[in-house]
Amino acid sequence: MSGLTIAVVGATGLVGRVLLQVLEQRRFPVGALLPFNSGRRAGAVRFRGRAVAARGVTLDALAKARLVFMVSSDEVSLRWGRALAERGVWVIDDSSAFRLAEDVPLVIPEVNAGALSPRRRLIAGPNCTLTGAAVAAWPLIRRAGARAARLASYQAISGAGREALEEFRAQLRGAAGVLRKSDPLGIPQLAPARALPRMSAFNVIPQVGSFNRDGECSEEVKVRGELRKIWGLPGLPVSATTVRVPVIRGHSLAFWLEARRPLSPGAARRTLENAPGVRLWKEGSYPTPLEEGESWPVHVARIRQGTNPRELAFWIVSDNLLKGAALNSVQIAEALLKKRWL
Ligand SMILES: NC(=O)c1ccc[n+]([C@@H]2O[C@H](COP(=O)([O-])OP(=O)(O)OC[C@H]3O[C@@H](n4cnc5c(N)ncnc54)[C@H](OP(=O)(O)O)[C@@H]3O)[C@@H](O)[C@H]2O)c1
Repeated sequence: MSGLTIAVVGATGLVGRVLLQVLEQRRFPVGALLPFNSGRRAGAVRFRGRAVAARGVTLDALAKARLVFMVSSDEVSLRWGRALAERGVWVIDDSSAFRLAEDVPLVIPEVNAGALSPRRRLIAGPNCTLTGAAVAAWPLIRRAGARAARLASYQAISGAGREALEEFRAQLRGAAGVLRKSDPLGIPQLAPARALPRMSAFNVIPQVGSFNRDGECSEEVKVRGELRKIWGLPGLPVSATTVRVPVIRGHSLAFWLEARRPLSPGAARRTLENAPGVRLWKEGSYPTPLEEGESWPVHVARIRQGTNPRELAFWIVSDNLLKGAALNSVQIAEALLKKRWL
């Protein structure tokens, strides 16, 4: 059998399923696939047209793999990630467990593939909310520096995992009957929210994660810490307001970059025209998550002057499950292959 033995922990989840599709689509050299789930229920995944049973994790079972994708939860990654890397297994982790650890590279290949090293076998992928901004702004930061970054997010429900998506879908199903009967301005009373802090159907929720003492939610803290690490700008002021919206797939951002040197919208457009991983939209047109939520590139549009000649405003859409997770992880693995480390 040629090809690598690849394990996916969380293969039955939203990111896991998309990851398997990406491995197939990009013809990643998978010799044997080992899918893992919680072990609490029977689960199977489809890969190359066949059903493959997923099973509960043990260290010995995982250590049979050359590369393990961890797409499950912080707790699961904390439990197995370092132990596997110490055994010489490459681990690409999509949870937030190790992203800010000093000895773990946090990688978006278009931005900082140079952070990869043959000695660092545990690698983190970034939070899905900031990926679009990280990719889109990087060529501009290289050209004109960065003084500050600001964003407001419009985050899809799938970014919160399978349970949140199921809750959202159940609310929509419940709403259909209510809408037929009620006053057009009436607010449907649906099943209570459990997976998310408020009802997600027909709503926007200005809370992603839990709040800290300063009133920031954990997603906002992640955006700042991870952007600083990925761009290699440790003191960069970053302000974020992260918001969940009733979209199934695809995160959108209103994003502002304040450069160190003047940067016109025209110069930014020219810089982004052929930037890696970016699809630049023509002036007057723009992407929406409904139309572009399942595509590979980071979509950038509506580039305008901000509050001063150094600040630009952008509209950015990127898929939380692809570039925000599965695609980015496979691209990291491809970079390891290219270097012949894998
Ligand atoms: N969703 C996104 O857009 C996104 C983007 C970037 C990063 N991430 C990160 O990617 C990870 C997965 O997210 P997701 O949205 O795919 O979650 P999800 O849909 O809730 O799926 C979770 C997966 O983890 C498995 N799992 C649960 N407990 C486990 C255990 N003890 N041992 C092994 N597997 C276990 C589940 O298996 P069962 O089927 O048995 O329950 C399922 O396959 C999370 O760390 C998340 O933060 C997600």
